[in-house]
Amino acid sequence: MVVVTSPEKNVSADLKSRLIGPIILLGPPGAGKGTQSRELVARYGIPQISTGDILRDNRARGTELGKQAEKLMDRGVLLPDQFVSDMVADRLRHADCARGFILDGFPRTIPQAKWLDEFLAGCDASTAVVVKLDVDYNQLLRRLAGRRTCPTCGRIYNVNFQPPRVPDACDIDGSKLVARKDDSEEVISARLKAYEKETLPLADYYRASGRLREINGDQPVERVTAEMFGAIENDRV
Ligand code: AP5
Repeated sequence: MVVVTSPEKNVSADLKSRLIGPIILLGPPGAGKGTQSRELVARYGIPQISTGDILRDNRARGTELGKQAEKLMDRGVLLPDQFVSDMVADRLRHADCARGFILDGFPRTIPQAKWLDEFLAGCDASTAVVVKLDVDYNQLLRRLAGRRTCPTCGRIYNVNFQPPRVPDACDIDGSKLVARKDDSEEVISARLKAYEKETLPLADYYRASGRLREINGDQPVERVTAEMFGAIENDRV
């Protein structure tokens, strides 16, 4: 049963001091993992760890890691498991992950999920809550084609569903919004195929251990957020 919790922004300090543990957001490209991560950060005060964002940041800064990732990302292909797992391990060692963290876009393959289970074994809250966002295929195509992102604050918009107040400008800081390079028609198709083949099997992996919570992501953002909070707090808080 999914308990729906109000997504009010002024949550008690209590939620922000409790041990929350790992929250894994699972779902196809465009399901709303990044959008919902921001709500989780605001509610629980734990960091979002998006492997896609870390990689894009490295690319923007021209690091060696970014250069290695570039070609595969632009084709919509997954990066090697070890490469991504090492990156996540570095991030999870930061002190801000002590009460919990949100994994957005990781794990994405069975080997990554097994690696994570081993990495977290023995931690205070080693058992993750895995929230899977389900969205209709055609809706995913519309969402990805219309996505725009603020290069300064990272806020996510959609020209069809969540437009900025002023076209092409961020509501928060006025920066000119950009489309992601991998949101072209051809690359979207490759990314969705990679999801079906390599990531979808994770649903069974987590279902088998009772960790999977499935949510209809094909609803207004606020409704998805409320159901997600309910699913997490049913387990954790
Ligand atoms: P990554 O950046 O992780 O991309 P992704 O998984 O394809 O997910 P997206 O960021 O496209 O979608 P999202 O679910 O976050 O949706 P969003 O909230 O933005 O990965 C990019 C690449 O990096 C991969 O292809 C791969 O090469 C590499 N990579 C990353 N992690 C890896 C890993 N672990 N292993 C190997 N390789 C890895 O929303 C989308 C749009 O929909 C937005 O415009 C938003 O406004 C809108 N929207 C959201 N919710 C709703 C709603 N409820 N109703 C209407 N519109 C909505």
